[in-house]
Amino acid sequence: MTTPTTTRTTPALAIAAGLLATLLVPAAQAVPADAGTAAAAVAPDIPVANVKAHLNQFSTIAANNGGNRAHGRPGYKASIDYVKGKLDAAGFTTSVQQFTSNGATGYNLIADWPGGDPNRVVFAGAHLDSVTSGAGINDNGSGSAGILETALAVSRAQYKPAKHLRFAWWGAEELGIVGSKHYVANLPRTERSKIAGYLNFDMIGSPNPGYFVYDDDPTIEKTFKDYFAGLGVPTEIETEGDGRSDHASFKNAGIPVGGLFTGASTRKTAAQARKWGGTSGQAFDRCYHSSCDTTANINETALNRNSDAAAYAVWALSS
Ligand code: TRP
Ligand code: ZN
Repeated sequence: MTTPTTTRTTPALAIAAGLLATLLVPAAQAVPADAGTAAAAVAPDIPVANVKAHLNQFSTIAANNGGNRAHGRPGYKASIDYVKGKLDAAGFTTSVQQFTSNGATGYNLIADWPGGDPNRVVFAGAHLDSVTSGAGINDNGSGSAGILETALAVSRAQYKPAKHLRFAWWGAEELGIVGSKHYVANLPRTERSKIAGYLNFDMIGSPNPGYFVYDDDPTIEKTFKDYFAGLGVPTEIETEGDGRSDHASFKNAGIPVGGLFTGASTRKTAAQARKWGGTSGQAFDRCYHSSCDTTANINETALNRNSDAAAYAVWALSS
């Protein structure tokens, strides 16, 4: 309402009001501007020591349970219990979804961070099962530990994202992406449509690593590429088998997907060794699906960079 009244202000008051305006207005505007545009910059650095501590726990779990963490074996359920315990203590809302595969009960662990727009979900996932031949520390303790520590960082920061955050650890990936397929198949159409993006982390600490980004949803892909560009680390498009991990379950339902990968049994070329270091003519992971996929089968630099990239993307895509 504008009433044309004549107001007289003393010069002193006018100066004081002007001063107040200069002091207060820009400050008041700066807060939302920062929160809106610079949120990605505040993604925390993920302590790689914490990620490695989770890998040591997975290693111990395998050692105490017949040497593996495979679907239908006690080491799998013990892995679920370990991850769930950490998330519950950190304030996540967790649920365990059961399914049957190959005559055995399988488990997916879903963890929601309370808050954010429920109609726009940013979702990060990793398969938690190993093959029967070993502990599965790179495949896929690495992705499981990387997103676990990202989730715990969300809690430490008491992050209040605009979008809703969900994390999942999938069962029976090694039997044909069974757990994630089960999850998506049982997700009502309306719930599927709320997932803004699914980010997959399957093998992110390969001992002779490459830095591969899934060539899928352009926004997710660019977010990961931007992170690595900021580190000065060149990336390549993931080509070692599209559809070979849990993102395929989401992609097949029309959900935007992306992810990171440091390589499995394909050999590193000379050109790749020049750009990334490591050994040309040797597999990215010589212990892929073998008993030697132990805590020794991890490149700490790759694990660190990819865990930080996971956090960066979770923050950037949800703010
Ligand atoms: N998902 C495979 C496994 O667990 C690993 C793998 C091979 C992979 N090629 C891939 C994962 C390409 C992601 C992308 O055995
Ligand atoms: Zn595997």
